[in-house]
Amino acid sequence: MSRPPMARLDRLLANLGYGSRREVAGLVRAGRVVLDGKPLTDPGAKVPVTADLPLKMSISGVPVDPPAPLTLIMNKPLGVVCSHKEPGRSVYELLPHRWRARMPGLSTVGRLDKDTSGLLLITDDGPFLHRVISPRSHVAKRYRAELERPLSGEEGALYASGTLMLEGENDPLAPAELIQTGERSADLVITEGRYHQVRRMFAAAGNHVVGLHRDRIGGLVLPEGLEPGGWRILTEADHAAIFA
Ligand code: URA
Repeated sequence: MSRPPMARLDRLLANLGYGSRREVAGLVRAGRVVLDGKPLTDPGAKVPVTADLPLKMSISGVPVDPPAPLTLIMNKPLGVVCSHKEPGRSVYELLPHRWRARMPGLSTVGRLDKDTSGLLLITDDGPFLHRVISPRSHVAKRYRAELERPLSGEEGALYASGTLMLEGENDPLAPAELIQTGERSADLVITEGRYHQVRRMFAAAGNHVVGLHRDRIGGLVLPEGLEPGGWRILTEADHAAIFA
């Protein structure tokens, strides 16, 4: 069995957002950090960093936060933004405040517009992020769109053609699948993540998106019990489903 990665306790806790190295050293010296039932006293002690750390370590009696790599699945509500830079309430504000100071930091895996709801992944795992968003991975994302006008019936062939060029772009879109679900509603499955892609695709067909919700990434479907604004840690089964 390979040995788990080890980290200095003060660095680990500082990277999890519990305070500066000096502040977390104070917590350790005060006996508030407990590993496997025993208080740790040396901030420089090397500790094993495994995914089950919250089951083994506590701070002031509360399980420690999960270490990196950490990926979350969120049901993004309408009205919040995915970027730290955009004005307005962000998805990061729906997570524990301390997590904003985590190193490595958490980022959304691609973005959903402020007016788009649904399945959003948030991760500190760079290779995972790139694998999900890279068009070369062909991870399909399904969007449920409500439209201002009835569908013409020609959109499916246009999107499947692999020749549709969005305004201001030089490369045609990869083929996408349209499934009409009503007179003014459709599911659109795309493997790319260009800026406002779904809204621009319907605009290119002379329509206008009035409601947009993402409910699937690869084979991972937004869990029914996850309320808007709710999130949970991605499981290994979820991870496998994304790339299935
Ligand atoms: N396409 C859009 O237009 N908006 C999103 O939020 C996601 C995909």
